[in-house]
Amino acid sequence: MASFIRNAPRRYGDVVESIGHTPLVELANLSPKPGVRIWAKLESHNPTGSVKDRVARGLIEDAEEKGLIRPGQTILEPTSGNTGIALAMIARRRGYRLRVVMPDNVTPERTQLLRMYGAEIVYSDGSLGSNGAVAMARELADADPSLYMPYQYGNPANPAAHYNGTALEILEDLDGQVAAFVAGLGTGGTLMGNGRRFKEELGDAVKIVAAEPMQGEPVQGLRSLDDGFIPPIIDIDLLDRKIFVTNRDAIIWTRRLLDEEQIFAGVSSGAIARVAVRIASELDEGNVVFIVCDDGWKYLSSGIYTLPVDEVENLDSTVWW
Ligand SMILES: Cc1ncc(COP(=O)(O)O)c(C=O)c1O
Repeated sequence: MASFIRNAPRRYGDVVESIGHTPLVELANLSPKPGVRIWAKLESHNPTGSVKDRVARGLIEDAEEKGLIRPGQTILEPTSGNTGIALAMIARRRGYRLRVVMPDNVTPERTQLLRMYGAEIVYSDGSLGSNGAVAMARELADADPSLYMPYQYGNPANPAAHYNGTALEILEDLDGQVAAFVAGLGTGGTLMGNGRRFKEELGDAVKIVAAEPMQGEPVQGLRSLDDGFIPPIIDIDLLDRKIFVTNRDAIIWTRRLLDEEQIFAGVSSGAIARVAVRIASELDEGNVVFIVCDDGWKYLSSGIYTLPVDEVENLDSTVWW
């Protein structure tokens, strides 16, 4: 088995350097069989609370290395929230301006977090989802060449952040023993970067599984590939399976993470946990790893963490997605 060099310092020069090295936590109560161990990679422990800190750092440092941005310049990015929040924090530290395009129906916490770091927000039509934000950002970038758009959907620096970070940490923490890796499909960066590294190291012994929302069933942060846009960084052949999740599943499993394992996660992580448990039930032994993309703070206003479970199931989620 390959050995992995761990670079896990505990002292950092600044908050950007502290990104990554997130905990891997066993969720024994969710495991359907004694020989199958389910592990949550808590990307919520990153400085701005999501997996996108890794990606935002990768996108900005890639542009710096290639001489594509200079201090004072404006970075423009379409994002449903987490990438924007992470870019906003890093841009502020590194002396760039940030303008984000996001659907007008994301939770108010996201808007506040972006403003807190000084980002400018341009709203796109919420009914068009993240595809609407992408289209509007492209138009803005085409009209103003002084803007730099990292474009996480098509930028190899996005999966590279996982290939060189998340995946190595997981392999190190599990001594290279990973039977299945489950993540949500948003830009595809998490699945592609981790998937490529795991396949290179473990071959067909590891299964790469995507949690994808049903078409027309929005789960914030995730996308259906049937909605008409396949991000250019996605190579479908790298996925062993795609498992569909409903909005209701996502909500119920977000609550199960909280009630049964005391993991306070965002709603896409509930959807991913549901798929991880299903995969675990199909295996006889091994480690199943899934990604907790963000924590629940940004979704508190939805009420899903405190309402009785039967009321959560009946929530009209369109009000707050
Ligand atoms: C909350 C949340 N979950 C999941 C994802 C999907 O991750 P990826 O873009 O790497 O596919 C995102 C991406 O924005 C997200 O914000």
